[in-house]
Amino acid sequence: MRPLQVKYYNWSGSHGPRSLRKEHSLRKLTYFIACSIDGFIGDPEGDASSMLAFVDEEFFGFLKAEYPETLPTHGRRPLGLDDLPNKRFDTIVQGRASYDIALKEGVTSPYAHLRQYVASRTLTESPDPDVEIIAEDLVDRVRALKAEDGELGVYLCGGSRLAGELLGEIDELVIKTYPQVYGSGMPMFGAGFSVTDFALESVRVFTNGVLVRTYARKR
Ligand SMILES: NC(=O)c1ccc[n+]([C@@H]2O[C@H](COP(=O)([O-])OP(=O)(O)OC[C@H]3O[C@@H](n4cnc5c(N)ncnc54)[C@H](OP(=O)(O)O)[C@@H]3O)[C@@H](O)[C@H]2O)c1
Repeated sequence: MRPLQVKYYNWSGSHGPRSLRKEHSLRKLTYFIACSIDGFIGDPEGDASSMLAFVDEEFFGFLKAEYPETLPTHGRRPLGLDDLPNKRFDTIVQGRASYDIALKEGVTSPYAHLRQYVASRTLTESPDPDVEIIAEDLVDRVRALKAEDGELGVYLCGGSRLAGELLGEIDELVIKTYPQVYGSGMPMFGAGFSVTDFALESVRVFTNGVLVRTYARKR
């Protein structure tokens, strides 16, 4: 059965020069995130492994075709997907706790196909020459990344606390909702209560019940 496609839009591009933009619009910061029906990105410690059961052939085909750069390098390599070109993003920003998951597996450069930034005040030295640590002025640093020239955007990987700190800079949400209720867990945003409006741009429905919703920030 083909996925019911309520509405879907595409954009693509290629790497561009890295000069700062003068008159062009800013590059997007996109929070691309997996969550439960009730909005948790993982259990209280952030573990979302129960969602992996839904990454079947159809859904993995979608990820490969539309968001190949969100698959970590060490996951792509064994599947022979090393050469997939980036479609949406050329840069990733993640929090230190999310990066720790790769570090614990001995992987110091989990997204080698992207420019990698890790926010941390405790990692005094980067474990890898391809990973830059952002210790100070997080919002300004992300604004500078968005102001760079280039067709592709910035992938905000998470986790919860980093997304909470960067909520004001997020231009787009791509929410993969898995058909599971967690009851409690790690919220999509580790932030205080405040209302931010987004406009629904597309919903993609997969046979196994996964939804991928894309929202644009209302400014
Ligand atoms: N479901 C999904 O799609 C998904 C995606 C990504 C992650 N996750 C889960 O999210 C969990 C981690 O989330 P989390 O909220 O605990 O942590 P996180 O957001 O990944 O990282 C938090 C850390 O980022 C650093 N940080 C945050 N704000 C900063 C700032 N303004 N300046 C400098 N550094 C800053 C701090 O590092 P220091 O403590 O080093 O200073 C902070 O402890 C993981 O378990 C992961 O599995 C789920």
